Amino acid sequence: MPAIVLVGAQWGDEGKGKATDLLGSSVDYVVKFNGGNNAGHTVVIGDEKYALHLLPSGILSPGVVPVIANGVVVDIEVLFQELDAIEARGVDTSKLRVSANAHVITQYHRTLDRVSERFLGKRQIGTTGRGIGPAYADKINRVGIRVQDLFDENILRQKVEGALEQKNQLLVKLYNRRAIDPDEIVDELLSYTDRLRPLVHDTSLELNQALDAGKTLLFEGGQATMLDVDHGTYPFVTSSNPTSGGACTGSGVAPNRIDRVIAVAKAYVTRVGSGPFPTELFDESGEYLRKTGFEFGVTTGRPRRTGWYDSLVSRYAARVNGVTDFVLTKLDVLTGIEKIPVAVAYDVDGQRFDEIPVNQSDFHHAKPIYEYFPGWSEDITTARSFEELPANARAYVEHLEELSGARISVIGNGPGRDSVIERHSLLHD
Ligand code: GDP
Ligand code: IMO
Ligand code: MG
Repeated sequence: MPAIVLVGAQWGDEGKGKATDLLGSSVDYVVKFNGGNNAGHTVVIGDEKYALHLLPSGILSPGVVPVIANGVVVDIEVLFQELDAIEARGVDTSKLRVSANAHVITQYHRTLDRVSERFLGKRQIGTTGRGIGPAYADKINRVGIRVQDLFDENILRQKVEGALEQKNQLLVKLYNRRAIDPDEIVDELLSYTDRLRPLVHDTSLELNQALDAGKTLLFEGGQATMLDVDHGTYPFVTSSNPTSGGACTGSGVAPNRIDRVIAVAKAYVTRVGSGPFPTELFDESGEYLRKTGFEFGVTTGRPRRTGWYDSLVSRYAARVNGVTDFVLTKLDVLTGIEKIPVAVAYDVDGQRFDEIPVNQSDFHHAKPIYEYFPGWSEDITTARSFEELPANARAYVEHLEELSGARISVIGNGPGRDSVIERHSLLHD
């Protein structure tokens, strides 16, 4: 089973890091293809807890080659800090590869991210403030800096000066900030080159050669389907394509080489930042999910918004990603809830929608139509097979499976590496 894509089905933080780690021992490469250090993945191994942002979660599996592919935006200072931090904990990072074509996040991207959010006031997106949007905007505007540019001082200087010509006007005249000196940026970027050089590769060539040699590749998505710039709740999205197609453009591996698409979904839903969220809870059950599920951002520490499972979102994710398998995480968090609501359709001003409405105003006005499933009170965290789960927990999973458009192959029932129930192999039919 050579190439597998793993994506988030909802609004992020579904437990992609844990799912990637679960597959770590069975794959040869783990490839990050979108986003940057806006991501925050927690992986719990025994008593050790790792928070990864820019590095693929596969870095924690010995033997795996971790790859930061061309679709990622790289803050090099953050990359080195993250490498230092996990190397200090004894993790071998020597196999890491970074694409020569990946774009670089600089100080002016971070600054623009923050000031433009402030400028939006009530309409702000609630970004992570890491410079993600401005770096992708430069890429699309063809004024971005790529990793390979750092190795040619002349080109680098020309590009940074070109980019700052316009941005400094914006910063000074619109945002009332000081202008940024291009030399400062160039000097900082050049100071990274010695350490960066050995990591930089033609990752598209290498990944295709690895596939030719029969190796197994796992593409690890950051963010999630509903945060996709094309398929998510635009404009309340990130600036990349976290859906499965992004794995191809973001890595230079073609669609006909992808064999499986795994989507990770929580047994309920969370969202960080602004934007519509039909099943959002504002009462004590929302607070209960936040507390019990420990729903606080890994990157920004913000409390996550919480809501009931939304099967329209999962069906939509199944469709736009071509999902073959779901990993359903955090089933343990629902233990003790007497009747568990699941959204099966929306009511939009009196009209029933069985699929996500294409019109954004309809989505903003969508009220969930719930079905209620009986809960369970037994502790499920020690179960290691589906049969060990209480009948109501099994029935809940089976109902979600019927509603969500693909089989649920793995269930998460605790944060630890071993807290999983495998119903079907994620690697084989
Ligand atoms: P990611 O961004 O998709 O990798 O997800 P995050 O790491 O941001 O958030 C998921 C959180 O849920 C992390 O704290 C995980 O340790 C935790 N987690 C993952 N799977 C499970 C599970 O099945 N049960 C419980 N209780 N926690 C889980
Ligand atoms: P992982 O990979 C949850 C959200 C932000 C904001 C919007 C745009 O851990 O699931 P950005 O900084 O990307 O321009 O912010 O996207 N966001 C995430 N929410 N999990 C993430 O990553 C996210 N990455 C970005 O909160 O609403
Ligand atoms: Mg996260």
